[in-house]
Amino acid sequence: MILRLLPENVVNKIAAGEVVERPAAAVKELVENGIDAGAQRIDVAVIDGGRGLISVVDDGCGMTAEELNLACDRHATSKLPDDDLIRISSLGFRGEALPSIGAVSRLEITSRAKDADSAWSICVEGGDKQEPAPAALGVGTRVEVRDLFYATPARLKFLKTARTEQNRCLEAMRRLAMAYPTVGFSLSDGSRKLLNLAPTQGELFVAWLDRLAEIIGREFADNSIAINAEREGMRLTGYAGLPTLNRGNGAMQFLFVNGRPISDRLLIGALRSAYREFLASDRYPLVALFLTLPPEMVDVNVHPAKTEVRFRDSGLVRGLIVGALKHALSEAGHRASTTNADFALGAFRSGGGAAPVAPLRGISELAGHYHAPLPQLATQPDARSAKEDSSVEAVDDYPLGVARAQLHETYVVAQTCDGIVIVDQHAAHERLVQERIKSAIDADGVARQGMLIPEVVELDEAACDRLVARAGELLEMGLAIEAFGPGAIVVRETPALLGKIDIQGLIRNLADDLAEYDDTIALQERVGDVCATMACHGSVRAGRRLNADEMNALLREMEATPHSGQCSHGRPTYVELKLADIEKLFGRR
Ligand SMILES: Nc1ncnc2c1ncn2[C@@H]1O[C@H](COP(=O)(O)OP(=O)(O)OP(=O)(O)O)[C@@H](O)[C@H]1O
Ligand SMILES: [Mg+2]
Repeated sequence: MILRLLPENVVNKIAAGEVVERPAAAVKELVENGIDAGAQRIDVAVIDGGRGLISVVDDGCGMTAEELNLACDRHATSKLPDDDLIRISSLGFRGEALPSIGAVSRLEITSRAKDADSAWSICVEGGDKQEPAPAALGVGTRVEVRDLFYATPARLKFLKTARTEQNRCLEAMRRLAMAYPTVGFSLSDGSRKLLNLAPTQGELFVAWLDRLAEIIGREFADNSIAINAEREGMRLTGYAGLPTLNRGNGAMQFLFVNGRPISDRLLIGALRSAYREFLASDRYPLVALFLTLPPEMVDVNVHPAKTEVRFRDSGLVRGLIVGALKHALSEAGHRASTTNADFALGAFRSGGGAAPVAPLRGISELAGHYHAPLPQLATQPDARSAKEDSSVEAVDDYPLGVARAQLHETYVVAQTCDGIVIVDQHAAHERLVQERIKSAIDADGVARQGMLIPEVVELDEAACDRLVARAGELLEMGLAIEAFGPGAIVVRETPALLGKIDIQGLIRNLADDLAEYDDTIALQERVGDVCATMACHGSVRAGRRLNADEMNALLREMEATPHSGQCSHGRPTYVELKLADIEKLFGRR
């Protein structure tokens, strides 16, 4: 056995394998260097998916000839002035990126330091560094990476198509651009701009929202809530989408820790918990959230591409995220996303097959517009109110308006000051019941109603055991159950405010819910889910006829109840159509 130290160029290639596993990783490292250098603009070009050329130009502080020479050596960094790995406040800290890229490509860096009157350039090819030579450039730095991985052909084989690699480069830039709204970013493929973001200005939250709207989309900006919460030196800021705006996967969840894009199970778990009451488990909210905490509370040195972190106190981080999001979502009250109304409008066509109308605008923009009352819709006799005339004025007082009709025994149609609201009475009722049970638990306990004949539910033994173990906690939530032999449960009392319920379905669903929870978690922590499950089996199904007073009571209760804009599965409980948009449908605008 011959034991030997590997030569520097082999060491660098090994390191490069971890740091730059694909073109997007090189783009990320170089853009991060630009951000660390204080750049206002960073322009990137990626040719042939990054295999041909990656060029990154910034207008940051630049480097002198000596700095340029050192920057390409391993472990040379200007970002750890006091060797303190605990207090990292820049994106870089290892002095690995440039030497790693230089080890596996033909790298050329041209740079001019802020106060210098000339620029210098240096080349590194497959790890061989040349002397810096004079060059021409304005203040800042231009890094050009040619023939990436030419020196490591095995890696080259693993690259996907140019298009896929290009998309990954774009994704990496979009993520960084979200965290630095005041920096301008562009990405081109040599002939076309794939990303072009001007530096944003003004108050930070406004600037941020502009940037997020450009990257994630206007729909997100229109249907998200600003988050700004602080706890023990940690701060959570950014925007969280309304639950009604959701997707089938987590690709639209952007999480950052101290300005770094991070994918972290703890953070994703906290997010899931915060939305659990408002969304079905297979739907994902859209968020862009930025966690800032003192550098000593987080270790960023745990992953070669710096995309994972470790928190010193993960419970605290989780608590901040869950608390802040739940609070913000309750404040959002009955707001449901406009997306559904847009979708509904898109589905309408005039007789002539006109194009879909433009998306709805914000309420504030429309305020003060046309207020003519809608003609009375055909109503059922029992839906007519004696107070009909005075209710026209009342329309102005209520965000969800005054009920005018019930259609198909499922939908309540209400007139608002500037449009109409259509409520799905079953979804709305389910939500209200859920919130009522929750507040009863918080107040003086849930009133129970004994069953004339106790109902037996047969289940497998494990499910029974889980339920019986929680019997005390379920009793506090209004449900009295007992074991009934080895494979059955008997239900003796149910929450009075649920009315008649589907007990078999409820018990089975609760057993499924419990299987997902950790035994050590108090049911109280999952109270929202439990209430949602109960409400789902106790609500008035579609098909019940409501009179005007009942309909209006439903609307008023929705206005007063947090989260009433969506049912517990994340579907909206109502949609709103503005008059202005209805007019567009008829070609009046
Ligand atoms: N665009 C740039 N403008 C100014 N200085 C730069 C630029 N890019 C790199 N440097 C200098 O070169 C040094 C080495 O860069 P490199 O990316 O290799 O390491 P790092 O950023 O310090 O740490 P990390 O490996 O974690 O990215 C930096 O510390 C910085 O001083
Ligand atoms: Mg770096």
